[in-house]
Amino acid sequence: MTADEVLTTTRAVRKRLDLTRPVPRDVIRDCLRIALQAPNGSNRQLWHFVVVDDPDTRAAMAEIYRDSLAVYRSDLDLPAVDWASPANQRMGASVDHLRDHLHEVPVLVIPAVEARLDGVSIGDQAHLWGSILPAAWSFMLALRSRGLGSVWTTVHLQQEQRMAELLGIPYDRVTQAGLFPVAYTIGTDFTAGHRTLTDEVVHFDRW
Ligand SMILES: Cc1cc2nc3c(=O)[nH]c(=O)nc-3n(C[C@H](O)[C@H](O)[C@H](O)COP(=O)(O)O)c2cc1C
Repeated sequence: MTADEVLTTTRAVRKRLDLTRPVPRDVIRDCLRIALQAPNGSNRQLWHFVVVDDPDTRAAMAEIYRDSLAVYRSDLDLPAVDWASPANQRMGASVDHLRDHLHEVPVLVIPAVEARLDGVSIGDQAHLWGSILPAAWSFMLALRSRGLGSVWTTVHLQQEQRMAELLGIPYDRVTQAGLFPVAYTIGTDFTAGHRTLTDEVVHFDRW
């Protein structure tokens, strides 16, 4: 796959995660080695990745995810999202599928940054999120290029502290950035997604 193909076909994979095929730790380690080449603020390398393949821990993580999703949906206030559209209905079904099978996904990865972001300035937030999110995305791209897939999720962060306590993450000095379910994909024929037209969002010289 060319770089452009990897960049344009790394989709949010939920229904096509192969729940029956184990993922060796060395594959995850290799993808994280690639991910650690990402840019990060002042090259401080504040990143951490908690990789969970223990079934009981995955089940407990899935429970936190499910509880968080229920809260998220009941509190949902996103008027810009048209939940009645066919595309979003499909996404909703896909999200439900992941919720119901998360404990079966062979590996769950939590990227984290060694800093708390609560109440920090926009500049510091940009620095700190920018010190983990590029690496997290590189991880997804590395998975894709090896026949694996994932989906970026953030829902469990509603209960970030509960997840921290489960996994022994020092909550007072580390912020979790998401939860990535990882598995081999069922087939690898993913295509480009539906996106805004470039000219609608690109502003040359001036907004
Ligand atoms: C910041 C962020 C948070 C997300 N949170 C969730 C989530 O909690 N659960 C989930 O199933 N998908 C989540 N997604 C996945 C998005 O729904 C997905 O990236 C988007 O629909 C585009 O999918 P596509 O690349 O396959 O077109 C999240 C994605 C991002 C970037």
